[in-house]
Amino acid sequence: MAVPLFDAWPMHEPLAEELLAAVERVLRSGRFILGPEVEAFEAALSKTLGCAHAVGVSSGSDALLACLMALDMGPGAEVVVPAYSFFATVGCVLRVGATPRFVDIDPTTLNAEADALLAAVTPQTRAVIAVPLFGRPIEGLERVAERVPLIEDNAQAMGAAPLRGLAACYSFFPTKNLGALGDGGAVVTQDAAFAERLRRTRAHGSGRKYHHDEPGGNFRLDALQAALLSVKLPHLPAHTAARRQLAERYIKALPPGLTPQTPHASHVYHQFVVRSPRRDALRAALGAAGIGTEVYYPLPLHRQGFVEARKGRQAPCPEADALSTEALALPCYPGLTEAAQREVIEAASRACAALEKDARLPV
Ligand SMILES: Cc1ncc(COP(=O)(O)O)c(C=O)c1O
Repeated sequence: MAVPLFDAWPMHEPLAEELLAAVERVLRSGRFILGPEVEAFEAALSKTLGCAHAVGVSSGSDALLACLMALDMGPGAEVVVPAYSFFATVGCVLRVGATPRFVDIDPTTLNAEADALLAAVTPQTRAVIAVPLFGRPIEGLERVAERVPLIEDNAQAMGAAPLRGLAACYSFFPTKNLGALGDGGAVVTQDAAFAERLRRTRAHGSGRKYHHDEPGGNFRLDALQAALLSVKLPHLPAHTAARRQLAERYIKALPPGLTPQTPHASHVYHQFVVRSPRRDALRAALGAAGIGTEVYYPLPLHRQGFVEARKGRQAPCPEADALSTEALALPCYPGLTEAAQREVIEAASRACAALEKDARLPV
């Protein structure tokens, strides 16, 4: 049986009628950008996440960019970021002309932890972006938030931890724990003034039609995605429980050669990632057995060509370098059946046994 890395249909099939009704409602309303559907979704999201304000935006990337723009970040400012994440975490820093300061990850949690983030703060630091990678929450971020404006890049970690920073950014990219049927994102915050500023930033810096206080951008969430997300949001707890159950089974049954990210009770398992020193051979063997996998990420942020040329002299990040050669994500999504998961586990066990035997052969 072939098992893809991700399949949205098993999650959407039971909701199909409601999703289609939401599409029809928007179609008939004629309101396609912002408006009541976005407002209703923002209200539901802020309640779910325990925050006073939610601002719907066009993507997780734009959520981060809007936050940095709303903080008036620019040249001369330093922003502390983990060395290991999706590019958007550092892309937004470069977009506003600020300088990223990279922090290495912990080799077992795979996160740049609170103490490491704090240790990288300098007098030039204007913000810290923390990333609970693959959905594993970071402890102690309150201590970071006390010192410096903290933006939590929670694109992969919806529901993993309460807000500790000034704001948290979410992505509704279709594979995310709360995925739209297209692009979308949101920023949540307890700060009314910051929320108001974000609402202007997402609409070309305009609070009043055709009057602009700042450049801003077109970072608006559309009504269709908001209506679809409103259908999916109430199912998030069940979808998270399904991810956790899959992760628990993997942790129990995978061969010892595959080291998972250390568990955490609030982990939301956006991805289930293992480390293997023979990652590429393992991936090839799983691919041959019809099992979808992905490498998140083959090149850490501080190694991206565009970044390397601009980052100046910085401390090395050897743990991020090592993880980029060892990390492998296995299928882990709501609707992945126990039988399909067993296929993944059996294929991984066979591949590990073959690789071990191979390593014992004389060269
Ligand atoms: C950690 C992280 N930050 C930011 C983003 C950007 O989100 P989007 O794809 O919605 O722009 C992603 C999405 O892949 C991500 O994983």
